[in-house]
Amino acid sequence: MTLSISKLGDRLGAAAEGVDMNALVPNDAERLRAALADNLVLCVRGQKLEPQAYFDAMGVFGKQLPQPSASANHPVVKDLLILSSEDRDVLGDGQRLVAGAAWHTDDSYRAVPCSLTTLYGVEVPATGGDTQFVNMYAAYDDLPDATKARIGALRVVHSYAPSRQLNKVAKRTAEDMATMPDVIHPLVRTHPVTGRKALYLNPNRMESVLGLERADSDALLDEMAAHATQPKYQYRHKWRQGDIVVWDNRCTMHKANADYPEGSRRYMLRVIVEGTVPV
Ligand code: OGA
Ligand code: MN
Repeated sequence: MTLSISKLGDRLGAAAEGVDMNALVPNDAERLRAALADNLVLCVRGQKLEPQAYFDAMGVFGKQLPQPSASANHPVVKDLLILSSEDRDVLGDGQRLVAGAAWHTDDSYRAVPCSLTTLYGVEVPATGGDTQFVNMYAAYDDLPDATKARIGALRVVHSYAPSRQLNKVAKRTAEDMATMPDVIHPLVRTHPVTGRKALYLNPNRMESVLGLERADSDALLDEMAAHATQPKYQYRHKWRQGDIVVWDNRCTMHKANADYPEGSRRYMLRVIVEGTVPV
């Protein structure tokens, strides 16, 4: 097998073919990491991995982290999270729970958010259930110089359940909430691998911009989110069974789509990779 890498979207996304993640050679591992750094989202096609082998294989991208969750951990490989179309919001209204149905970056409510997320499409619906991504380097680069100067040193409070929250997130117990105090992150962050600047937004978790009046803070966060999620910055991934999609939370946002019909199954296994404090 020969590894080949091709572009997926205009602004981000690449697909790798001709590689078996059960038996990755060092040279291919290096090429996958480079393709991810260059393209922000990397889809490795056609994989067939046992849960533990998938978890282990993701070590090529960094140190895998445990994923504390109310209910969704894999029964055998506990640090794998299961995202399934059968998930229900057990603490809320009992409706189907589609994690991440609004634009977000993973884990920004933590002081040290994960760097990468990887999803393995074990079972994917025939239609629907795409994942959309945006390029947050490009969104930053395109800002007028005056805006870059105005926002360059701003810092944002992120919270698991912010008061400006418009989107439904999984309910957590009071005990869990107590373990997730608010954190502060820069609005513009510098990627530790590429050295490039990216807007760092999470409409699901942002509470306020430090030092701004509430109305100004809300207006700025809304304006930045609207700017960054324009179609020109997007790539929309149509899943094939056996895809492993890896994305970089430090320079992208993503969203799930809950548009597949009841009765059609979507079953993904998720691994997150250790990050560093955003600067
Ligand atoms: C996630 C996520 C999107 C999807 O796993 O963090 O947002 O399409 N997933 O399942
Ligand atoms: Mn997510």
